[in-house]
Amino acid sequence: MTIKALTTKNLTKNYQSRSGTTCALNDINIDIDDKQIVSIMGPSGCGKSTLLQILGGINKPTSGTISFYGHEYSEGIPNEDLKKIGFVFQADNLLAWRTVKDNLYLPLEIMNLRGKEWDNRIHELLDMVGLKKFINAYPHELSGGMRQRIRLIRALVHNPNLLLMDQPFGALDAITRKLLNYEFLSLCKKTQKTILLVTNDIDEALLLSSKIYIMSSSPGKITNEVKYDLPIAERNRVTARTNKYQQLRIELKKIIQEEMMQLRVS
Ligand SMILES: Nc1ncnc2c1ncn2[C@@H]1O[C@H](COP(=O)(O)OP(=O)(O)OP(=O)(O)O)[C@@H](O)[C@H]1O
Ligand SMILES: [Mg+2]
Repeated sequence: MTIKALTTKNLTKNYQSRSGTTCALNDINIDIDDKQIVSIMGPSGCGKSTLLQILGGINKPTSGTISFYGHEYSEGIPNEDLKKIGFVFQADNLLAWRTVKDNLYLPLEIMNLRGKEWDNRIHELLDMVGLKKFINAYPHELSGGMRQRIRLIRALVHNPNLLLMDQPFGALDAITRKLLNYEFLSLCKKTQKTILLVTNDIDEALLLSSKIYIMSSSPGKITNEVKYDLPIAERNRVTARTNKYQQLRIELKKIIQEEMMQLRVS
């Protein structure tokens, strides 16, 4: 039987500001199975970060509900369950005055998790991304790609069930991004987490996810979804050359281009 990790029902978010009310999210209905990787794509300002912030407990919904592993919440996911969630934010937010090791300890300190098993986990994760020897380095001593890897494993340190990732590879050059996409794919195979990924890259979305939601803006809503049923375990560097992938790529590109046309018209 498939276990549902996360479901939202008519999730809506209105922001009130001096310039009036912005409907950032309007009736968002998504669902993610346990261990499934789902992506969200959409134009700037369509509410992708707002959605992730609400799911990650940083922001409150105006209305609607979230179900997290069978528990339904209308005020957002409570603190106890937020411990089962990891968040990679859109901004590069490693703490400049802390070493790699101390940055990685941050979620553990916040959640009051101490002990040898957690020290071991930090070493294991650093090993997984090939950065063991940088354990005592400061963020400014790392390249952009290395910082990104650290931010990624920092979100995994407390061993969450669900990982929320807001354009984690967005600030990287195309070559580093591709490299990290494949590294991330192999990390996904090893860790088998449930993941909700925001991305603006069609190939990143197709390589990594089995379902892609496409959003439009003003108000932010989901307009389309594309499914790709190839199991993650079977994906690799040749996946992008298969007919099925190329077919889906054309379909996805067309949907996104139509969204862009709508933006120009409105
Ligand atoms: N704290 C806030 N107060 C008022 N309006 C906000 C706030 N945060 C976001 N918004 C508005 O909500 C809408 C969605 O913003 P959001 O950051 O979620 O978009 P996004 O899809 O993540 O964009 P991008 O791709 O550029 O990161 C935008 O119109 C934005 O101006
Ligand atoms: Mg955003």
